[in-house]
Amino acid sequence: MNTKPSPNLAWATWIRDLANAGGTGGLNWHVHALRSLNRWLPTRERIAQFLAGIEPRQTHLLLIGPSAGWMLPTPWLTRFKEVDVFDIDPLVPFLFGVRHGKVLREHGTQLRFHRQDAIAGLPQLLKDHPNACLWFDNVLGQVSVRLGDEDIAERQLRHLKQLMQGRSWGSLHDVYSGPVDTDMALPLVQTCALKRLNATGDNSEQVELDGRIQTLDVAAQSLLTRLNAKGVWHDHATSGVFAPHTPTTLMAWAFKPHYWHWLEAGWVNSSG
Ligand SMILES: C[S@@+](CC[C@H](N)C(=O)[O-])C[C@H]1O[C@@H](n2cnc3c(N)ncnc32)[C@H](O)[C@@H]1O
Repeated sequence: MNTKPSPNLAWATWIRDLANAGGTGGLNWHVHALRSLNRWLPTRERIAQFLAGIEPRQTHLLLIGPSAGWMLPTPWLTRFKEVDVFDIDPLVPFLFGVRHGKVLREHGTQLRFHRQDAIAGLPQLLKDHPNACLWFDNVLGQVSVRLGDEDIAERQLRHLKQLMQGRSWGSLHDVYSGPVDTDMALPLVQTCALKRLNATGDNSEQVELDGRIQTLDVAAQSLLTRLNAKGVWHDHATSGVFAPHTPTTLMAWAFKPHYWHWLEAGWVNSSG
C-alpha cells in the first residue's frame, strides 16, 4: 500500500499547519503570543523557575511541540549540547531561531528542527534517540483538541507514561481552561503543588493539593474558584499524564484577559 500523501494533500496539510496547526498553534498562535508576552510574564517566570530546578544528566534534549518557545526560558536550553525541536508548524524553525538561536549558538548548543507529528511518532523517536531526555512543551493538553475526542485523548495520554518508562522526561500542559469574572480581584498566589494519589480517573480520584488530601472533584472546584471561574470550563484530558505520586506544580495563566488556564508542570527522572 502506498502511504505517501499526494502532493495536493501534503500542501493542504502544510497550509493548515501554517495557519493554526490543527487548532493548537501556527500563525494564529504566534500573533496571539507576541501580543500577550507582557500579560504572560508572571507565568513565563514560574515556568523558568520550575525548569531552573530541573537538572537532567542527559546532554541531549528532544523538545516536543514548543512552537517558537514563546514561554520557554533560553537559559534552561543552554544546559544541553544538542536540542532537537519537533513541531508540525512550518514557521517554527524561523521563529524559534529568532527567539533562542543566537544565545544557543553562543553556548555551542546544536539546534535541529523536524517538522513532524511527534506524538504519533513518539515510539520511533524514542528508539532513534535512546540517550535523550524529553520535554513536552505545552502540547499534550492540545491532543484532545487535535483529535476532537476527549476520551481517546485521555486514553492516549494515560498510555504515554508507559512509553516513557526508563527515560527522563517532563511536560508542561493545560489541565483546565475557561472564562473568568474579571470584575472580581484575583488572588495573589497563583501556583500550587499537586500530587495525584491514585489513578481511578473518576470522581473518587484522590489528590493532594497544597498538602491537603481531597477528591479530584473538590480540588478542581477549588482551583476554579481561585481564578473566579464562570461559565463552562474545558478539561484537557491530561489528568493521567503523570503516574500517581509524581509531584507537579500548577500555574495559573492569563491566556486572554477573560480566559485563563491552569497549567501543570512535572518532571520524571530516569531510574538508570
Ligand atoms: C500551545 S503551542 C506551544 C506553545 C509553546 N509552549 C510556547 O512557549 O510558545 C502547541 C504547539 O504544539 C505543536 N503541536 C501540536 N501537536 C503536535 C504534534 N502532534 N507533534 C508536534 N507538534 C505538535 C503546535 O504546532 C504548536 O506549535
